[in-house]
Amino acid sequence: MFTVLLHMSPDSSLAYHLLGKVIKCKAAVAWEPKKPFSIEEVEVAPPKAQEVRIKILATGICRSDDHVISGAFAVPFPVILGHEAAGVVESVGEGVTYVKPGDKVIPLFVPQCGECSSCVSSKGNLCTKNDLGAACGLMNDGTTRFTCKGKQIHQFASTSTFTEYTVVHETSVAKIDAVAPPEKVCLIGCGFSTGYGAALNSAKVERGSTCAVFGLGGVGLSVVMGCKAAGASRIIGVDINKGKFAKAKELGATECINPQDFTKPIEDVLMELTGGNGVDYSFEVIGRTDTMILVLCDIAMVQQVRDTTGDAVLALAKELTGKLSSKTTQLA
Ligand SMILES: NC(=O)c1ccc[n+]([C@@H]2O[C@H](COP(=O)([O-])OP(=O)(O)OC[C@H]3O[C@@H](n4cnc5c(N)ncnc54)[C@H](O)[C@@H]3O)[C@@H](O)[C@H]2O)c1
Ligand SMILES: [Zn+2]
Ligand SMILES: [Zn+2]
Repeated sequence: MFTVLLHMSPDSSLAYHLLGKVIKCKAAVAWEPKKPFSIEEVEVAPPKAQEVRIKILATGICRSDDHVISGAFAVPFPVILGHEAAGVVESVGEGVTYVKPGDKVIPLFVPQCGECSSCVSSKGNLCTKNDLGAACGLMNDGTTRFTCKGKQIHQFASTSTFTEYTVVHETSVAKIDAVAPPEKVCLIGCGFSTGYGAALNSAKVERGSTCAVFGLGGVGLSVVMGCKAAGASRIIGVDINKGKFAKAKELGATECINPQDFTKPIEDVLMELTGGNGVDYSFEVIGRTDTMILVLCDIAMVQQVRDTTGDAVLALAKELTGKLSSKTTQLA
């Protein structure tokens, strides 16, 4: 993951002559899967009722955007990707009360309607109004706010940030401090929150524990930070790119290993490194099926050492592969 800072100043964002009008601006359009982005001039329609038009100041690039390009994450094309950004509100549609023009915001790829069963639950916040599962790439009225060369361009994950301007529903923005640096806080839009939250809220890492983090990209590094904040005493980073190790150690990893440096399976390496105890928490932050299964196997091995629930986890790993014959899966 890395960040793109668009050359715009928030101060020049309040162009009143644009209010209520279509804005022509540049955007990176993905016309079809497995093809490079194309920088196009697009038209961005004004926000309708309960919608917000945002001038994007900085956007991160998350691996999930690449999953769309590779075809692993199916969404309707053509599409403007990007979902990790910071921007300034240019204009608002009728009925919007939460933000006003000039407010600095982070778009949210999981809306927060505040009313659905998920939003009112204390156990999660995957708002049922999200556009992630069977993505339609459209606003609530079944249209998009983007057109290019006479065609409708789909929105992505309720956000679309690889564009100078975007339109989102008002439940898909969070107002932020006016002085927050956009090129840094844009990462809160996805990678940081996902990783840090996985360690603190989902796994609830305990003080003094040992953690393994597979994948040291933007999300993995945020997991490392979360584990450190939770007081983990040992945080083992695992990545095939050694160039990630210095940053991981700076952020809290106590050691880093490259699976390609070993002839034995990485779960055996981790067992040895931990004196046969295994790690307490294992995070897969790469996005590969084989490494996800490996992490499940890792958990199963530890559970088998400590009690009997490991068999259930191993059964799940076997079911996932349909062909896994032993606890060992070799990393690519
Ligand atoms: N809310 C969510 O569920 C959510 C949010 C953001 C990202 N993600 C997913 O999290 C994953 C990570 O995202 P990211 O933006 O940090 O990706 P990234 O590309 O920045 O980082 C991935 C890291 O994994 C490493 N890697 C690749 N293959 C490996 C292997 N075989 N063994 C060990 N390391 C390997 C790479 O070298 C890289 O450092 C992606 O699959 C992304 O789609 C999910
Ligand atoms: Zn993301
Ligand atoms: Zn909701």
